[in-house]
Amino acid sequence: MSTKNDVLRLLISSSNEYISGQELAKMLKVSRAAVWKAIKSLEKDGFNIKAKTNKGYCLDDKNDILNAEILKEKLGGLETHYYASIDSTNTQAKRLINEGNNSTILLVADEQTEGRGRQGKSFYSPALTGIYMSYVFHPMADFATSVSSTTAAAVAVCRAIEGLSNKRPEIKWVNDVYLNGKKICRILCEAITDFETQTVSSVIVGIGMNIKTIDFPDFVENASCLGENIKRADMIAKITEELEKVLSGSYDDFIDYYRSHSMIIGKKIDFIENGVVAHATAIEIDPNGGLKVQLDSGEIKTLRSGEISIRKRSD
Ligand code: BTN
Repeated sequence: MSTKNDVLRLLISSSNEYISGQELAKMLKVSRAAVWKAIKSLEKDGFNIKAKTNKGYCLDDKNDILNAEILKEKLGGLETHYYASIDSTNTQAKRLINEGNNSTILLVADEQTEGRGRQGKSFYSPALTGIYMSYVFHPMADFATSVSSTTAAAVAVCRAIEGLSNKRPEIKWVNDVYLNGKKICRILCEAITDFETQTVSSVIVGIGMNIKTIDFPDFVENASCLGENIKRADMIAKITEELEKVLSGSYDDFIDYYRSHSMIIGKKIDFIENGVVAHATAIEIDPNGGLKVQLDSGEIKTLRSGEISIRKRSD
């Protein structure tokens, strides 16, 4: 991790106590100039840092901090695991399940070093500016029932955004969340199946949302951020609350909300079918969350999973 992140961690763990630049430099085995540079960089990122002569630095409590205590306070009784930095919260969730954890749990990271997306892609997860969370539950249900959690997660995210801001997010089937035509949140749902009982024993709902991330590497296309002054812990708690509500209800309770937030109906789309790009128009979201499309050949079919892209060309 960078000196900037290390300085931030030390400031967080010192609560409301001031730490001098000299102490920070000594603890991190860097120069005082490096500490000063890190402080300036944190201020540039929007952190409020109080500085006092002869005392040092201290974080103002207006800051957007994530840690185990804050999450516990916001999430009540839910078993929550916080990581300052981890490869991927979904990967870590699988490890915990393999170790025998069969509780409903939430994993949250400040940063992911190997955030995963669908189809083997990576998910850019820089420190401190986004939400990286995995909600794990154990439905012991058939696969079709578990698929609804994919749709449910997009609904929960949109409801959380609408509950905490005036923004109007949209959903690109199946569960990408957009704001003003740009991706701000992506979701990776993974299921663990039990061959013996032929059921899905665990579902991992991995959610990555850009809250303040503005600089994206080249491999991230058409992305933006929520851009609201919302504390990440509040957004995590709100998403979790909405997720628990939709997961405990039925499809009928939220499919109309999903439809009303869909950004693809009537649009020309492309998708891959048997390794070939198929061209179609999105017609409707069916009662089970499938996407009914009309191929350019006239054939009508319903997509149950996979990735679509909205065609930019007008043909
Ligand atoms: C996608 O891009 O297709 C889905 C991205 C999902 C990202 C989230 S961030 C939290 C969780 N951990 C991961 O490694 N991925 C998901």
